[in-house]
Amino acid sequence: MTLERSRLNWNDASDVDPFFAMTGRLMSAWTIEEFLASGDAQVDDVLHKAAKHGLPETRESALDFGCGIGRIARGMRRHFRRYVGVDISEGMIKIARRIHADLSNCEFMVNTESHLRGFADNSFDLVYSWGVLQHVPSKAVVKSYVDDFLRIVKPRGLVVFQLHTDMTLRARLQPRRRLYNLFRSLGIAASTLVKLKLHPYDRYYVPEGEVNDWLLRAGSTILERERHDDHAPHKSMTFWVTKSARR
Ligand SMILES: C[S@@+](CC[C@H](N)C(=O)[O-])C[C@H]1O[C@@H](n2cnc3c(N)ncnc32)[C@H](O)[C@@H]1O
Repeated sequence: MTLERSRLNWNDASDVDPFFAMTGRLMSAWTIEEFLASGDAQVDDVLHKAAKHGLPETRESALDFGCGIGRIARGMRRHFRRYVGVDISEGMIKIARRIHADLSNCEFMVNTESHLRGFADNSFDLVYSWGVLQHVPSKAVVKSYVDDFLRIVKPRGLVVFQLHTDMTLRARLQPRRRLYNLFRSLGIAASTLVKLKLHPYDRYYVPEGEVNDWLLRAGSTILERERHDDHAPHKSMTFWVTKSARR
């Protein structure tokens, strides 16, 4: 799987049911208000915890990596003066811009690169990524994004990212995703494949020890590792990190 194939699959997901792609719950089961409220609640939780970890009170800017259709954009704007959402899928970004057309100081950008070099060093108070890195098909690319999270966050800012740290053998084999890619390359419509219960959501993992190593080698401080072991086939973890050693 390449990053380009991943981009195409997420565009398929944005065409078929972007709400399902964000949450695993069908669009027909959401109202837009409920959907955005789920993002507000998530941001409140993150900010509550961030305060505990010493995120400075001046909350200028937040980057949401893998923002999708902007589920957490409004929640973020309640706490930060500027919000930037980045996503690999132009389909997702188009929908996000439509939903949040009325929201000021809110930018949605497509990034199809394996890095975030377009952003300056030390430019965000919070860099946040939820439900994204487990879908990136290369460990080297995940590392490249994490390195850039640490580069673009301000010295006393916070990086919070979640990823899978383990998967069962069956989950690693991903038969539905493989069949999806095969039939898609033969030109069968995404909507048909989804009806056949095949899907474009590939998943990968990086062992916890490797993520720890990346972070420590980058000179950052791990404030917390939060385990989410509820989904048996995928072990997940959220890393709470600051850029430099705490004094
Ligand atoms: C499960 S959705 C989560 C969306 C959002 N973070 C949320 O919590 O509502 C995953 C999102 O990550 C995006 N994504 C996947 N790979 C990416 C990459 N390499 N760079 C940026 N975004 C990516 C997808 O397009 C999709 O919008």
